[in-house]
Amino acid sequence: MSPEEMLKSFPDQLQWEKTDIDRSLYRTITFCGMGGSGIVGDIAKSWLEHRGCNVVAMSHRGYGLPNYVKGEEHLVICTSYSGNTEETISNFEAAMERDATVICISSGGKLEELAKKSGVLHLKVPSGFAPRYALGYMLSKILTLLGVEKDELEDAKENLKTSYDEIKKKGEEIASKLYGYIPIIYATPLTEACAFRWKTQINENSKTQAYFATLPEMHHNEVVGLDNAEIRSKCAFVVMFDPKDHERVRRRVDITIRLLKDLGIVPVVIGGDGNSYLARLLYLIHVGDWASYYLAGKYGFEPLPVKVIDWIKEELSKG
Ligand code: F6R
Repeated sequence: MSPEEMLKSFPDQLQWEKTDIDRSLYRTITFCGMGGSGIVGDIAKSWLEHRGCNVVAMSHRGYGLPNYVKGEEHLVICTSYSGNTEETISNFEAAMERDATVICISSGGKLEELAKKSGVLHLKVPSGFAPRYALGYMLSKILTLLGVEKDELEDAKENLKTSYDEIKKKGEEIASKLYGYIPIIYATPLTEACAFRWKTQINENSKTQAYFATLPEMHHNEVVGLDNAEIRSKCAFVVMFDPKDHERVRRRVDITIRLLKDLGIVPVVIGGDGNSYLARLLYLIHVGDWASYYLAGKYGFEPLPVKVIDWIKEELSKG
């Protein structure tokens, strides 16, 4: 399948399934995963927090597990598209040692084998995609586990489908603005997961460095870096927000845009379009996905291969 076909399939990857997980049994939920599989946890965490869930949710990237995970009242969700990422296998092993409740998501690989051997719930997603292009499959498994309503997921999917041309067009326009510059994305608490996805999609698809910072923290450091005209002239700026961000954060978004404009910078200002937070998150993510795809084309890169990631994994497999 071509990267374009994989991208196009994103709305249809969103599939609701009935699950019978009782979330009230858990004190904490720890989402484990790396790269294209790790972002799923960030999105799920933002969505859970926005809907007012009072279970502590954490996104964990790296080996082992945080110390608080001890016992079955801690739910650990290990997501690895390939099922072979060593950090995620390490999370699984640590969770089993600590008697946590574990759920695994993968298209196969070692994680599926280990889950089955240990009698742990394993949710399988279709194979044949690059991990980052299978976001919809992995995310819908997790959101369904966390109790997303069928209507909410269906509405977000429909929103992506009806806005398809608009999303693609925005992606293409944004790629033209980012071309030749280092993309710097300024986000808000409700759009931080999107900014991270934009950064990593620009890294992996467009083979380009990109960075992000989040309000309000960036008003205490990052903004001072803008004083350096020589460096800022090498960057292209994106400011993203959600209409439901804290009112003081929205005020800070306006101040950030004014600050950039006063410096002669015209940032790309973008919010997601949709009826629910989930719909807006997915809209914004999809604009970034297309932007990174078009940006790859402008630089003459194939979006799919990630040779250096493959090489590092190969080196690590030697021991
Ligand atoms: C490759 C990609 C990577 C992988 C990451 C972890 O498309 O997006 O960021 O997601 O190397 O691998 P998996 O997802 O197989 O656990």
